[in-house]
Amino acid sequence: MVCLGNICRSPTAEVVFRNKVRIENLEDFVFIDSAGTGSWHIGHPPDSRATEAALKRHYDMRDLRARQVTPGDIARFDYIFAMDRQNLSDLLHMSPPEHRHKISLFLHHGAGDTEEVPDPYYSGAEGFEHVLDLVEDASERLVKYIAAKHQLP
Ligand code: 4NP
Repeated sequence: MVCLGNICRSPTAEVVFRNKVRIENLEDFVFIDSAGTGSWHIGHPPDSRATEAALKRHYDMRDLRARQVTPGDIARFDYIFAMDRQNLSDLLHMSPPEHRHKISLFLHHGAGDTEEVPDPYYSGAEGFEHVLDLVEDASERLVKYIAAKHQLP
C-alpha cells in the first residue's frame, strides 16, 4: 500500500486490509506492508487524526512507522497499490519494466467511480472518515479477488 507520506492513507489501507485478510483466515498467505513515495516522515508514527479515526472503527495503527518505498519493494511484492494517480506515476517511474504490471490504483478494486483515495492531510476529520470508507470497501473486494485469483482456501 503506497501513498505520499505513509502517515495517513497507506497505513490506513495496511491495517484495514490486514483486518479483512484476518477475517477470511488468510493471514498465513498474505503479507501486507505500506510505504510512502516521499521521505519527509520516515520513522514517524501515523498522523494522529488518521490513528484516531481508525481506532474508532477498531483498527489499531499506533505501532506503525513510516518508511519510503524502495526498488526492493517493487521487486519483492506481488501487488503494489497506489492511493492516487501521482503515487501511481511515481511508482511506475521507479519500477523496471518487468515489474510495472504489479502496480495499480488501489481503488480499482472499489465499488464506485472514485479512482483515487484523496489526500486527507490538509482536510478536516471528515477527510479521514472518507479515506476509511473508501479503503474498507476496496479492501473487502480486494481480499476476495486475491483469494480467488490465487485459489486460497
Ligand atoms: P499520506 O498523507 O500521503 O496519505 O500519508 C500525507 C502526509 C503528509 C504529507 C502529504 C500527504 N506532507 O506533505 O507532509
